Amino acid sequence: MAKIVLKGDIVFTSNKDRFETYEDYYIVAENGKVVGIYEELADEYKNYPIKDYTGKMIIPGFVDLHLHAPQYPNRGLGLDKELIPWLNTYTFPEESKYRDIEYAKKVYSNLIKDLWRVGTTRSVIFSSIHRESTKLLMDMLMDSGLGAYVGKVNMDRNTTPELTEDTQRSIVETEEIILEYKDKSNLVKPIITPRFVPTCSVELMKGLGKLAINNGIPVQSHLSENVSEVEWVKELHPELPDYVSVYNEYGLFGQTNTIMAHCIYNTENEIDIMARNGVFAAHCPYSNYNLSSGIMPVRKFLDKKVPVGLGSDISGGNNLSIPSVMVAAIQASKIKWLETDKKLQPLTSSEAFFLGTKGGGIFFGKVGSFEEGYDLDALIIDDSSLMCGNELSLEERIQKFMYIGDDRNIIHRYVRGNEVSEPK
Ligand code: GUN
Ligand code: FE
Repeated sequence: MAKIVLKGDIVFTSNKDRFETYEDYYIVAENGKVVGIYEELADEYKNYPIKDYTGKMIIPGFVDLHLHAPQYPNRGLGLDKELIPWLNTYTFPEESKYRDIEYAKKVYSNLIKDLWRVGTTRSVIFSSIHRESTKLLMDMLMDSGLGAYVGKVNMDRNTTPELTEDTQRSIVETEEIILEYKDKSNLVKPIITPRFVPTCSVELMKGLGKLAINNGIPVQSHLSENVSEVEWVKELHPELPDYVSVYNEYGLFGQTNTIMAHCIYNTENEIDIMARNGVFAAHCPYSNYNLSSGIMPVRKFLDKKVPVGLGSDISGGNNLSIPSVMVAAIQASKIKWLETDKKLQPLTSSEAFFLGTKGGGIFFGKVGSFEEGYDLDALIIDDSSLMCGNELSLEERIQKFMYIGDDRNIIHRYVRGNEVSEPK
């Protein structure tokens, strides 16, 4: 049985309302799962291998619920456009390049290194429509030791000719990846990825919904990100009452575990369906600023008990770092509260930390916290450079790291109790 003990200053959020802090404590894990947190090490654990990180913070690994791997080279490009022109001008041309496996390998190797560097131990990723480079990305992630869901994108309408798939072929290739990868790794899994309603025909969505349900495979897509997009979906589907109903009609809305990115313009009724179906919302504040999309009313989702996590949404979002996304989410919620609706209380720092750890982590199972039975996904944070010589409480130290820390403060990363070294 694999055993490990980490010693240090432990911080996590088992619920969003407060940080739990344990200064100079021990976390014990067996077979990658947390057994408990102790002030003194009981005799039975004294012969376990111990990593002494006294004076350093031990926090859960970060979870990114939404990013596009093939858009990594586009970070920072074209962000003065809104969603649809940005997709047509920048995103689709870049995503066409991934027929070329060698190109994919270069980009994905950079991305995986950077995910490791910024402490994202689990992520939920869109690849491109290309089967081979999707498999390559999954294999590379397996080699890295990081956890991920990866989806081959499906599109058969309203995109460029190079990215328009034959409907049946799109379904068959997706099924091939599912069958090949669903049991290949404990940490890297397939996810069904219709890009969004405007680029997927009814026949495609029906086929993908069936694949999801028959194989118990999760689903990810985009929802209500931009006003013109929502209008477009209404025009494409006058037979259904709203955007949510289109996914729901075809088995792509919580029939299996589902993540929807953005969720800025949903009606109350749509949010109620998300809560009822347990559909996760991935809040991507940087992307929403960059593409002038709007600000998600995240408080409404939390109040209605919709599961919420954070996403970098590379490359609509420009920043891969989840602690930075946490801060952006807090800032967005303050502007929403000030400018739009005084009932939507801004996010607190413990709430934002929760969203970027356990909030998204739950999509993976028991991930994102140090409660008993949770996977020991942990980061060791050396924040000595951030303190300016002051004595700070552990709660102040984690706030400071969120706001002014970066990857230079992350000195070790663990996934399921194993230390993960820098990917090749
Ligand atoms: N909606 C459909 N495709 C995309 C994408 O690649 N990025 C974002 N932000 N929204 C989308
Ligand atoms: Fe996206």
